[in-house]
Amino acid sequence: MATYGFIGVGNMGGALARAVCRTAEPGGVFLANRTPAKAKALAAELGCRVSDNRAITENADFIFLGVKPQMMEGLLTQIGPILAKRKTRFVLVTMAAGLTIAKIQQMAGGTYPVIRIMPNTPCSIGEGMTLYTCGAEVDEEDEKTFLSDMAGAGKFMALPERLIDAGSAVSGCGPAYVDLFLEALADGGVACGLSRTAAMELAAQMVIGSALLQQKGGKHPSVLKDAVCSPGGTTIQGVRVLEQGGFRAAAMGAVIAAYEKTLALNK
Ligand SMILES: NC(=O)c1ccc[n+]([C@@H]2O[C@H](COP(=O)([O-])OP(=O)(O)OC[C@H]3O[C@@H](n4cnc5c(N)ncnc54)[C@H](OP(=O)(O)O)[C@@H]3O)[C@@H](O)[C@H]2O)c1
Repeated sequence: MATYGFIGVGNMGGALARAVCRTAEPGGVFLANRTPAKAKALAAELGCRVSDNRAITENADFIFLGVKPQMMEGLLTQIGPILAKRKTRFVLVTMAAGLTIAKIQQMAGGTYPVIRIMPNTPCSIGEGMTLYTCGAEVDEEDEKTFLSDMAGAGKFMALPERLIDAGSAVSGCGPAYVDLFLEALADGGVACGLSRTAAMELAAQMVIGSALLQQKGGKHPSVLKDAVCSPGGTTIQGVRVLEQGGFRAAAMGAVIAAYEKTLALNK
């Protein structure tokens, strides 16, 4: 069985550690974090092991780099000399927004196998959408093992590296946009007299159901929208107000703004 080491178990590293422990043997999962108490608490919850940056770098088959993009250079400078001494095969897994495989290899000081992923927070409950690109040094066996042991994170989509930033602006950043929408819908419900709990439940289940209806049925969203809008009815009035507020332009603009910021981070 492959072993998995996580360096940095914050929001995303922690979500992915949860996902691996759902599919693979937790005994082969090792966690390290700058503030060790975080790794300790998560390891106790998941039944996996606490470790440190050095031991993970020396031993893990898949080394997840779970730090913020601006911390990556410092981390790779620290572990690069340890990687250079490794005799066994390993794969680096980066989830850092905006950092290319070539940049990770340059910072690590070697053309090591790298899988670049762009996960999202629903990975923590197995409903994630993760985009990935394998560097040229990653072989078929690495990719197969990785995808099978990570299946507990949700869906995976292979994308050419030049499209990862675009995909990330939709599925990586998107949970924040959906959360804003959910909160606003619930606020509307509360304004109309619903309890906060009931309004949240209605909004969340409606968003889940609408997304599944589109995904499973394959109909264009405009066709599904037309089916809810009766002539002279109530829903079309809501649609009119959303259009007045520039809803669709704002959603498109949010994706493009996130994409442009990612490009700027990588300069
Ligand atoms: N959040 C998302 O939705 C999302 C989505 C896609 C991709 N990502 C990517 O995921 C990565 C992590 O983001 P995040 O949101 O999870 O950040 P985060 O919650 O701040 O987690 C980063 C973790 O790394 C730890 N850390 C920092 N330097 C370290 C070092 N040298 N050695 C060991 N641990 C170290 C931090 O420890 P402390 O406890 O001491 O702070 C913290 O727990 C980023 O590259 C980001 O681009 C995030």
